[in-house]
Amino acid sequence: METEVIKEQKKHISEENSKIESSKLVPDAEHRERVRVIKEISEINKDKELYYCILTMGCKLNENDSEKLSGMAEEMGYKKTEEIGSADLYIINTCCVRQNAEEKVFGKIGELKRSKEKSGSIIAVGGCMMQEPHVIEKLNKSYPYIDVIFGTHTLHQFAEDLYKVLTNKEKVRNVIDIDGKIYEGLPVKREDGKKASVTIMNGCNNFCSYCIVPYVRGRERSRKPEDILNEVKELASEGYKEILLLGQNVNSYVGTGAEGETAKTINFAGLLEEIDKVEGIEIIKFISPHPKDFKDDVIEVIAKSSKISKIIHIPVQSGSTKVLEEMNRKYSKEQYLELISKIKARIPEVSFSTDIIVGFPGETEEDFEDTLDVVRKVNYEQVYMFIYSKRVGTPAAERECQVEEKVKHERFNRLKKLVDNQVEANNKKYIGTVHKILVEGYSKNNEEMLTGRTDSNKVVVFQGEETIIGQVVEIKIVSDHKWYLKGDVVK
Ligand code: SAH
Ligand code: SF4
Ligand code: F3S
Repeated sequence: METEVIKEQKKHISEENSKIESSKLVPDAEHRERVRVIKEISEINKDKELYYCILTMGCKLNENDSEKLSGMAEEMGYKKTEEIGSADLYIINTCCVRQNAEEKVFGKIGELKRSKEKSGSIIAVGGCMMQEPHVIEKLNKSYPYIDVIFGTHTLHQFAEDLYKVLTNKEKVRNVIDIDGKIYEGLPVKREDGKKASVTIMNGCNNFCSYCIVPYVRGRERSRKPEDILNEVKELASEGYKEILLLGQNVNSYVGTGAEGETAKTINFAGLLEEIDKVEGIEIIKFISPHPKDFKDDVIEVIAKSSKISKIIHIPVQSGSTKVLEEMNRKYSKEQYLELISKIKARIPEVSFSTDIIVGFPGETEEDFEDTLDVVRKVNYEQVYMFIYSKRVGTPAAERECQVEEKVKHERFNRLKKLVDNQVEANNKKYIGTVHKILVEGYSKNNEEMLTGRTDSNKVVVFQGEETIIGQVVEIKIVSDHKWYLKGDVVK
């Protein structure tokens, strides 16, 4: 429920942000046509009780894409359901970064066959995995009942694709292999009412030798600064307090303003500075930066901002200079550690999280020890650990020196043990510290307590009035438990 205080706060935020200059989105012909098709489908669906169910298998960028697909589905007259078996429209938004993500997709499509046979539901499958030609071949052969297949570059045409299914019973295969463009103005249905993701750039030019992303997402392209700022300001006026800026390589962001207005070009540091000014947004996070592009100007902006999170995600992937070179990461173990030291020197309260791949082809015991060494030295708050997975079409998959499954798992477990011990020891250090926390709601495990997360993503539970839900408060940590911290509201 929205209290008077919150209403008043939102009004003030809108007024303040309207003072920041930026232009409005000018809809082009393609956009106008999309709006027309969405409207036409909503007419077809009028007076029917229709449901859509969306399954998202990938990263935050995919989740953000799913929010756009949901936005389109809702404007076309479908209501959301989480229940498999009761929807009229299924959308599967796929990921192909690792083998297990792909396997799940085939399982789900198989499961939906029954629902289609029983009630004639529409099945649409899209996202990263659809950009792989061998996948399309397999789907066409073994799952011909899929109604729509769309890729990462055709997501914005989802309404047009669905229109063909609804009016002509066509099977639509709409996947193209281009570098794509960023489409503005798609409706968005946000998953969360307090935290929001904002994509700032898409695609990747880095071609790390293990990674499929550049092949399925195309080359880097950045959104215009004013489009991003307008979205952030709108979120602020809707009451959002926390935003997560998204991109495959956020610190290679280069955005040029619309001609005649904000025509200057800004980099990631410049964009962060602008976003920092938006009234109402209190916590700013971003994923993922690339260590090779993490420049001093970004460190400076983070240091000076009271809103930008002081836990920074900087993927290391491996601690071995030899492996990093073979991964085409373009930094050495020493350069990565220097970057960490430099950030720590400028921002003493900083901490880090990272991504690590275990068992990259040719990784020796010595190389793996280097990874453990980096983990010990940096003392991460959180480590996302992955076992190397062969991706068709990437250079690393062709290498003959693949590491045995047994060895990969054994190394993964050793790394996990080290990380778990570090995280447990770090939890103790939280006692007595004060954190700015967005109050997310009641704790699922204890309905009398409220909950939120620290910058470092640790769950904190505390007592408080219902009225502080959705607000950012200061919490002092009083005790640590295995999976969460307990605290008291101080402000
Ligand atoms: N653009 C981001 C994230 C890419 S995908 C970045 O560069 O950090 C997220 C993570 O998946 C990567 O950081 C990497 O650790 C992991 N990953 C990518 N390809 C992989 C593969 N073939 N096998 C295992 N993990 C992989
Ligand atoms: Fe993949 Fe590397 Fe690009 Fe990240 S930077 S998306 S790991 S190629
Ligand atoms: Fe997966 Fe695509 Fe994200 S491959 S990790 S959903 S960019």
